[in-house]
Amino acid sequence: MGLLDLWDYVRAPGDARLRRQGYPSSGMGLLERFRRSSAFWQPHLDRNRANLRAIAAKLSERGGTLLVLGAGRLLDVPWEELFPKFERIVLFDADAGTVPFVERLLAASTTPGLPKPAFEIGDCTDAVVNVAAWTDHTLQTTPSADAAARLLEKGYREADAPPPAWARNFTDVRLAVSTNLLSQLGHFPRQHIQAAFKKRFDKKLRDDLGASEHLERFFCRVRARHIQSLAGFAGAWAYLSSDVEVWNYELQATAPQTAFKEPLPPDAGVTLDERGAPKFHWPVSLERGLDPLHDQRIRDLWPKGAPLDPPQRWAWHIIPQSSEDAHRGHGRIHIVEAWTKRPR
Ligand SMILES: C[S@@+](CC[C@H](N)C(=O)[O-])C[C@H]1O[C@@H](n2cnc3c(N)ncnc32)[C@H](O)[C@@H]1O
Repeated sequence: MGLLDLWDYVRAPGDARLRRQGYPSSGMGLLERFRRSSAFWQPHLDRNRANLRAIAAKLSERGGTLLVLGAGRLLDVPWEELFPKFERIVLFDADAGTVPFVERLLAASTTPGLPKPAFEIGDCTDAVVNVAAWTDHTLQTTPSADAAARLLEKGYREADAPPPAWARNFTDVRLAVSTNLLSQLGHFPRQHIQAAFKKRFDKKLRDDLGASEHLERFFCRVRARHIQSLAGFAGAWAYLSSDVEVWNYELQATAPQTAFKEPLPPDAGVTLDERGAPKFHWPVSLERGLDPLHDQRIRDLWPKGAPLDPPQRWAWHIIPQSSEDAHRGHGRIHIVEAWTKRPR
């Protein structure tokens, strides 16, 4: 971790709940992971960037608003080509540490006509951070694991996924972007809630099927609302990409000693076969990981009749085997799905 990164992390301002729930530290972790494995990530980032460039090419004159949800450090957004097409750019993220990073990125750019983006630091669902904070409060004020689990189950069953402010506050949106965010909307709060429950009662929330299933159903409503909100910009383009499957792999003993040495094969060594299953350049054994969307399919979440291009799928080699201490002797890929919605 560089000194500047550390400084960004330490002085990240804003809603204290975001820091408590791990958004700035996860952002640092993501940046570290990217720096460690950037060649492996490149094909995935390029696919998102190419899709966004294709949309930018259809926007002739400058005007309107660009919303980037979960903008992070703009790794997968071709901002130098995209930003000059808009009058106003609003970047949304729950990690305040992204602001100085993006400001430095833009300050170093020589691209003419780059508008200065506005930053909205907070929960872009207007729901998950509140529910995680309510969980913290409930855990602290309830004496037993069982009583807490019953309260949580009831709370999660009733928790609403309201239309977020970004879906209501802008009237001139021409493009709304959500890259690698959808699955994260549940991931961060799930991690926080599970850790808080364990810390309070030394028990796993996962063992309580009622509370954990209703938590997942709440996240399902949040994801459905996210896509519905994107689709709600009827006259705008929308681009959404998300991981939809997780696979863990282990290189077999017969894999060449040179596996992972430069130059990497195209697609960082992983493509999808004609049935959509991962196909590795090296001999591997594969095991399916947890479903990041809890059985939801993105195609079912778009409103009927939304003008959609056919979806694309590709593999993202996110953790090369043994590149991290927690992944000694194995690695991980995600299968990503990408959707473009055209304006009506
Ligand atoms: C996988 S990262 C992708 C980042 C970005 N697309 C990039 O290329 O740098 C997901 C981002 O979504 C943000 N995020 C996750 N949950 C969020 C929420 N509820 N509201 C706003 N941002 C969120 C994270 O802080 C993180 O920056």
